[in-house]
Amino acid sequence: MRRVAITSLLSGMKVGHNIYNSRGETLISRGVILNKRYIDSLKKLGIPALYIIDDSLPDFFVQDVIDERSRVAAIKLTRSILNGQNTSESPLDKAVVSDSKKVVNDIIDQLLDNPSLMVNLVDIRSIDDYLFGHSVNVCVLSLVTGVSLGYDKTKLMNLGMGALMHDMGKTLVPPHILNKPGSLTESEFNVVKRHSEYGYTILASNEAYVRKLYALIALQHHERYNGEGYPKGLQGGSIHVFSQIVGIADVYDAMTADRVYRKAYPPNEVFEMLAGSGDFLFDYKLVLAFLSNIAAYPAGSIIKLSSNEIAVVVETPKGYPLYPRVKVLYDSTGNKLQEPLDIDLSLQNNLTVIKVLDHSEIEELKLNEGKLIS
Ligand SMILES: [Fe+2]
Repeated sequence: MRRVAITSLLSGMKVGHNIYNSRGETLISRGVILNKRYIDSLKKLGIPALYIIDDSLPDFFVQDVIDERSRVAAIKLTRSILNGQNTSESPLDKAVVSDSKKVVNDIIDQLLDNPSLMVNLVDIRSIDDYLFGHSVNVCVLSLVTGVSLGYDKTKLMNLGMGALMHDMGKTLVPPHILNKPGSLTESEFNVVKRHSEYGYTILASNEAYVRKLYALIALQHHERYNGEGYPKGLQGGSIHVFSQIVGIADVYDAMTADRVYRKAYPPNEVFEMLAGSGDFLFDYKLVLAFLSNIAAYPAGSIIKLSSNEIAVVVETPKGYPLYPRVKVLYDSTGNKLQEPLDIDLSLQNNLTVIKVLDHSEIEELKLNEGKLIS
């Protein structure tokens, strides 16, 4: 499989994984051959990239950190919670909070069972339904960070619940502002910024069932270590550690997604941005714990090595986010290898990734049988 940006999809490509909407319905199944109609609807849904089965590449399986069933169930639940807030004044009730805890508990159990997995896979989300998939992603990303920090199950549950509900206040921001295609005016941005206080109010007003800590996370997830966040401009250690973890996960997930007002940033660029944000935006040790779980070059990326060889990323070992296991496809002079060559970059002293190839470069490579113009 290889990872293809949504803008580079072509008719005839074969889909490598199932794609769902936020209702849990299958939009496209693994193995389907794309046509113009599918591609147009995927673009409308705002999915940033897909895994494509490319018969000219070695096939391999990309395992998500949680299983598909749990992710779809979590997205469906989040959808029902957030839609409930949007359409009525009814508070979160005990049953909804209890269902959410079951979902978070399931995610925690899976993460603890699979401690070596890295965050790789393109997730299931769309622009219209962005908030639901985003909430689940932020929950999963926060929890993998909590696991790396050695948190026990009680701490993980509080962190996961706060993460799942961190953007609940967005349901009170008018949709025409939230989904505006283009930059916001200053006054519109000020309305959006209020979502952290709205979220706090919704969650804190249900304190019979909802822990105050979840509300605090919703309130503080846009605070930044250097004091330049909102709503209060808190600094350093005065921002709760859980709020900072959720803030890091929120930034990563938002930047790797297509939004109505801009395209997704490549995962390796977001990785580098976050790596440089330590002690400015977030506590550096939390950033390191987060990044230790993130594959800078997701499986299926086609990359150029410092040796000028071209390879496909297969897997990234835990703790070595910049040094994946790869299969070399073309040698340094551009000749296609008869058999792909396995290299584990985490075991090589002098070999690094210097470039991620985009779709046109990959096609050019095939046309010229490896003679890539750098
Ligand atoms: Fe937010």
